[in-house]
Amino acid sequence: MAALPPHRAQFRHTAPMSAKSSVDITATAVAPDAVTGASTVTPADTSQTTVIVRIHRFDGHASWQQDYRITVPAHTSLLDCLLLIKRTQDPSLAFRYSCGHGMCGSDAVSIDGIPRLLCLTKISDVQKDAEAQANGISVITLAPLPAFSPVRDLIVNLNPMLDQIRRLEPYLRASDALRTTPSGAINVFEYLQHPDELEAFDQLTNCIACGVCEGACPIYVDGTPFVGPAAAVAAGRFIFDSRDDPQSRAQRLAALDHTANDPIDTASSSNGAAPAGIWPCKGLRFCTQRCPRGIDVSGAIWKIMQAIKENRGRVAPHSAVK
Ligand code: SF4
Ligand code: FES
Repeated sequence: MAALPPHRAQFRHTAPMSAKSSVDITATAVAPDAVTGASTVTPADTSQTTVIVRIHRFDGHASWQQDYRITVPAHTSLLDCLLLIKRTQDPSLAFRYSCGHGMCGSDAVSIDGIPRLLCLTKISDVQKDAEAQANGISVITLAPLPAFSPVRDLIVNLNPMLDQIRRLEPYLRASDALRTTPSGAINVFEYLQHPDELEAFDQLTNCIACGVCEGACPIYVDGTPFVGPAAAVAAGRFIFDSRDDPQSRAQRLAALDHTANDPIDTASSSNGAAPAGIWPCKGLRFCTQRCPRGIDVSGAIWKIMQAIKENRGRVAPHSAVK
């Protein structure tokens, strides 16, 4: 395979291991030299480590914990650990994944109590925090993502989050009016945007709807009626997009401002509490700390709250997004 140029080599995808190559992952880290800017290649640490992966199992009726002992290089991702276990020890183990490199958002689980992506978490990232047993072997505990009901083993039902995102209509709702210039109308449906306008929402476009922020949010996990951080980010991506129609923006903000029987509140609001839109957020910032895409989720929620206050009175609440 042709060598990737240095600026792309760091994004090289290491495919999930096959059973035959299970304990022999080699990778290189390419980092620019701080002084010269030239790339230097550092061999990855291939020293072997033995860990026990303790997995919360669930078959639809009963739940239990099961331990799997593996010996792999310390830089092995936990996704590759699970693939190894599934291929060599227990084919019944169920977990979800697709891309293997932090783009699809399908493998969020709780790792030693912290929501993270399996594919972006190496054994060496968590081993130092893991419980050390008497025999010196670390235990890494994997459990389903908090806040979501388990379907089987590490697979959870993400539909409540996806429904919340969908209800806020996460797509551009432009007015379809032609943009004009000082010299007249532009004769195409093209929505020009200044880089500063892009900057206002660009970071939010990186969301992969993994649900890590929701699993990290104690308010969401508690089942408090709350639109949730992931849906707030999805809505914010268009609220702060200058191409979205002003009336559409006002409707999105009104929807997040909550109204009686507001349909965007969580499915977990069945506890009878009043719906509350975005307002249950207390700015605890666990969502920002844990987001694998580096999104300042809490900051986006705070900006949405400010926009809601400015928007109040500009649109009838019940004309909010469905
Ligand atoms: S904001 Fe971050 S943590 Fe939350 S769903 Fe999007 S990518 Fe995942
Ligand atoms: S497998 Fe796609 S984000 Fe981890």
